[in-house]
Amino acid sequence: MSEKPIHLFVPTFRVDETLAAIRECLECGWTGLGFRTLDFEAAWREYTGLPHAHFLTSATAGLHLAWRLLAEADGWKPGDEVITTPLTFVSTNHVLLYEGLVPVFADVDETLCLDPASVAERIGPRTRAVCFVGLGGNPGRYREIRDLCRERGLRLVLDAAHMAGTWQDGVHAGGDADVAVFSFQAVKNLPSADAGMICFSEERLDAEVRKWSWLGINKDTYSRTHGEGVYKWHYDVEHVGFKYHGNSIMAAIALVALRYLEEDNARRRELADRYDRLLAGHPRIDRVPMAPGSVPSRHLYQVLVDERDEVIVELNRRGVYPGVHYRDNTLYRMYRHGEGTCPRARRASERIVSLPLHLRLDEPDVDRVAAALVEAVALRAPG
Ligand SMILES: Cc1ncc(COP(=O)(O)O)c(C=O)c1O
Repeated sequence: MSEKPIHLFVPTFRVDETLAAIRECLECGWTGLGFRTLDFEAAWREYTGLPHAHFLTSATAGLHLAWRLLAEADGWKPGDEVITTPLTFVSTNHVLLYEGLVPVFADVDETLCLDPASVAERIGPRTRAVCFVGLGGNPGRYREIRDLCRERGLRLVLDAAHMAGTWQDGVHAGGDADVAVFSFQAVKNLPSADAGMICFSEERLDAEVRKWSWLGINKDTYSRTHGEGVYKWHYDVEHVGFKYHGNSIMAAIALVALRYLEEDNARRRELADRYDRLLAGHPRIDRVPMAPGSVPSRHLYQVLVDERDEVIVELNRRGVYPGVHYRDNTLYRMYRHGEGTCPRARRASERIVSLPLHLRLDEPDVDRVAAALVEAVALRAPG
C-alpha cells in the first residue's frame, strides 16, 4: 500500500485566524466564562435563529443538564422513562442514567434515526419524553416525532451533536424542540477542542441552566467583574449545580469556525453527492436517505454493507480508514435490558460504515474511497 492514507475525520482549522482569536483572550487576560463565551452564544443565536443558547464544556454536559432541568421543571421521578435510540454514541443514553431516568429503546427507520411508529408503540404511563438523535446531521422523521410528542404531551430533546448547520425548509435544527444540544467537539462540523451548546426554547430554563452549569451560583464571575453594583461577592448558591460552563478559549476557536460553517458544510454536501453518484445503484451497497426538504450538515456519509467488519479490513488494506457510527447500544452490558427490542437498529449496527468525509478530501480521494469500497464488497460480501 503506497498511496496516502485516507482517514475518517480530519478537522480543518483556520490556524492564523484562530490563533489571533486565542491571542486576544490571552492578551486581555480573560480565558474563562464570559467574554468570548457570551459573544459565541450571541453569534450562535444569530446564525441558527434559536432564541436561547448557553455555551458548555460538551454536548454530554448539555444533554445531562437538559434532563436535569426538564425533570425539575416537570417533577419527574426516578424510574420515569425516556424513549431513545440504540443507534447513537453512548453519551445520549448515559445522561438519562445520571438522572435516574430509564432509557426505553425504540427502533430506527431507513434514515437510521428514530422511527415514529416504533416510538408511538413504546409510549406508556411512565413515558415523559423522547430523545431524537439527528444521526450524521440527518433530521430523519424528526417532524413526525415532534408532532407525536405534542399530541401525547411529551417533552422532546434533540441530540443535535451532529447537526451544526442542518436546515430543514429554512429552519435550523432545534427550533421546535424543548431543548436542542449541539457538540463542538474536536471532529465535529464546527470543531473547537471540546465544547457544546444547550438551546432551550423557554427563557426561564435558559436562565436556570446558566446557574446549573456554574455550580448553582446565581451570578457568574464575568458579570460580577464587569457588571454594575457593589457587594459583588454577595451571590447566592441556589442548589448543587455542576461545573459545565464553557470557556473563552474554546469559544474563540468556535467563533472562527462558525464563520466558515456554511461554506464547509456546502463542501461536505458536494463530497457526499459525489459518493452518492459513484455508489448509486450498487446492489450490495445501501445508501442512507436524507430527510426531504433538508439541507443536512453531512457530519457523516454512511452506507450499509454485509460482512461489514471484513469489508473495513479490506478497505484498511487499501489505505482507507472508515468508522462505525454506531454499534447498537443494547449490545453493551449497560443497556442489555433493551436487547432484542430494536431489530432494525441491530441489523444496521452490523452493516453500517461511515466513509471518510472531511474538508481535506478532494474529488480523487472520494473516487478512490468509492472504488475501494466497491472492490472490498466484491471480495468480502459478493452476495
Ligand atoms: C450523537 C452524539 N451525542 C452526543 C455526543 C457527545 O458530544 P460531546 O463529545 O460534545 O460530549 C456525541 C459525540 O460524539 C454524539 O455523537
